[in-house]
Amino acid sequence: MEEAKLKYISVEHDGAVALVRIRREDQLNALNLALVDELVEVLEACDRDDAVRCIVLTGGPKAFAAGADIGEMAEMTAIGMKKLGQFRVWDRIRGVSKPILAAVNGFALGGGCELAMTCDLIIAGESARFGQPEVKLGVMPGAGGTQWWTRTLGKARALELLWTGDPITAEEAWRLGIVNKVVPDDRCVPEATEMARRIAERPPMAIRLIKEAVYQALDTTLQDGMEAERNLFYLLFATEDKSEGMRAFLEKRRPSFRGF
Ligand code: CAA
Repeated sequence: MEEAKLKYISVEHDGAVALVRIRREDQLNALNLALVDELVEVLEACDRDDAVRCIVLTGGPKAFAAGADIGEMAEMTAIGMKKLGQFRVWDRIRGVSKPILAAVNGFALGGGCELAMTCDLIIAGESARFGQPEVKLGVMPGAGGTQWWTRTLGKARALELLWTGDPITAEEAWRLGIVNKVVPDDRCVPEATEMARRIAERPPMAIRLIKEAVYQALDTTLQDGMEAERNLFYLLFATEDKSEGMRAFLEKRRPSFRGF
């Protein structure tokens, strides 16, 4: 997608890191359909671009995203929602093979929280608030909230959060294990970018297959997961980066990975 045509999303390139920003600040980055479509197109374009090795997704200082756009949903019927299938496009975010780090300041609520959890890692500013307030609107999460929270927190804590709809702080989210790191707000994007740069220095195929194996661990048996991991491990022996990585270790020098 041509960057000039983007209305809600901007992209900046910093070496091998793409910084993708949601820009609908007057509505606290509420995720309307057009915004999510744009976001998915941009993430897929980054995934196709060989110059990009890692993606940082962020919002604004007050909100990463305050949820799906309530105005758009208010008059929708069940049949209308089913026909629209508005969350199908979210599967394409999970299909992105490169690492996505969410840099979250302010509200990450409802779909905004689900979007952060759909990313691979989360760096949170101290102001970040994570929660699933859908229940207060008479509905429930629809973009993965019941799945991500339960897999991370276990049944009891997940139900408490989903039933009360009350948000938790960045610090609590870190203690519960959904956030990798909490930093002062003004350090949120720089820290995420710094971590992304470190990951971008690693061999891209190994990074990609590690991601594949970890997500497989979330929905398979231990034995199937072990076998899948093994095969992905063997596959990496077909890459030049594997030869370079091991040779560099033996020659006591820094490796230079090229992505194949
Ligand atoms: N949808 C549409 N508009 C939204 C929005 C949303 N999710 N969240 C905020 N906005 C808009 C407000 O309507 C307001 O617009 P106007 O200035 O045009 O009136 C603007 O953003 C600023 O918001 P507030 O004035 O409410 O700001 P605040 O600081 O007083 O409160 C807030 C902030 C607590 C986040 C509050 O805006 C809020 O509760 N937002 C809704 C959060 C929510 O319920 N999210 C879940 C949505 S459903 C969902 O996400 C389903 C799913 O699983 C995908």
